[in-house]
Amino acid sequence: MENFTLKIEEKTAYITINRPDKMNALNRATLSELSLLLKKMKKDKEVRGVIITGAGDKAFVAGADISEFKGLSEREAFELSSWGHKEVMDEIYNFPKPVIAAINGYALGGGLELAMACHIRVAVEEAKLGLPEVSLGLIPGYGGTQRLPALIGRGRALEMILTGDMVSATNAYEWGLVNHIVEKENLLDKCLSILKKMYTRSPLALTSAIHVVNYGLMNPAKGADEEMKVFSKAYLTEDFKEGVAAFLEKRKPDF
Ligand code: COA
Repeated sequence: MENFTLKIEEKTAYITINRPDKMNALNRATLSELSLLLKKMKKDKEVRGVIITGAGDKAFVAGADISEFKGLSEREAFELSSWGHKEVMDEIYNFPKPVIAAINGYALGGGLELAMACHIRVAVEEAKLGLPEVSLGLIPGYGGTQRLPALIGRGRALEMILTGDMVSATNAYEWGLVNHIVEKENLLDKCLSILKKMYTRSPLALTSAIHVVNYGLMNPAKGADEEMKVFSKAYLTEDFKEGVAAFLEKRKPDF
């Protein structure tokens, strides 16, 4: 992989986008590699969770690579957006294991969209987040118009999208766009500590919970029915038997 480093340690895949001289901007090669990497991490039984971060100390990801924008036809632009949605952003959004964005600096445009596709966001104090596409004559194309309002509400989302302004980590935290703010040196440790807690829980239940939460957001009228179905199926799993047995035997479950 040219544009990434990958480390697997303590059941966790650390995926680092590695184009620091270009603020880790997402060019097509980087997105293709990320899509492949996600497929591998999904199958890898050693991996129980993923942390995505950016190389260097300035940027998580400063957006899609603007140098690749010129000269696209309407059809090519549609294909670029649709491919990015399906193969990368939705893959992360629906990933069956928890994925945390470790936001180590600028998270702009496609970078914020990538972070919003993750299940949880942890940011450093210096991070700046924004969707500046309107200043390029564009709108967000990797899910920003849908995921930002879902996280922070329509009014704040429209203000961010229509001004294109960046917000501080503090504002992002107050609005619920990031879950935690930490000092730079604690960023990865904080992400790992969240994942480690999840690793003590049933992996099948985590996958089901991610699925039902996402399903309900996409299909609000059908969310409760899906919850009932998936809840009842959980009764058939070995994880359920182990979880209940462990509680009754006053021991920790071994999932
Ligand atoms: N696409 C392509 N290249 C990018 C990029 C992007 N989204 N963001 C930054 N870069 C490149 C710059 O062109 C520059 O490359 P160069 O050294 O070859 O000229 C390099 O990364 C460093 O960026 P620079 O602008 O010099 O750093 P800075 O510290 O002055 O500013 C930012 C940092 C993030 C504020 C600024 O780079 C920026 O506004 N980037 C674009 C953000 C954006 O609009 N993203 C949405 C895209 S849809």
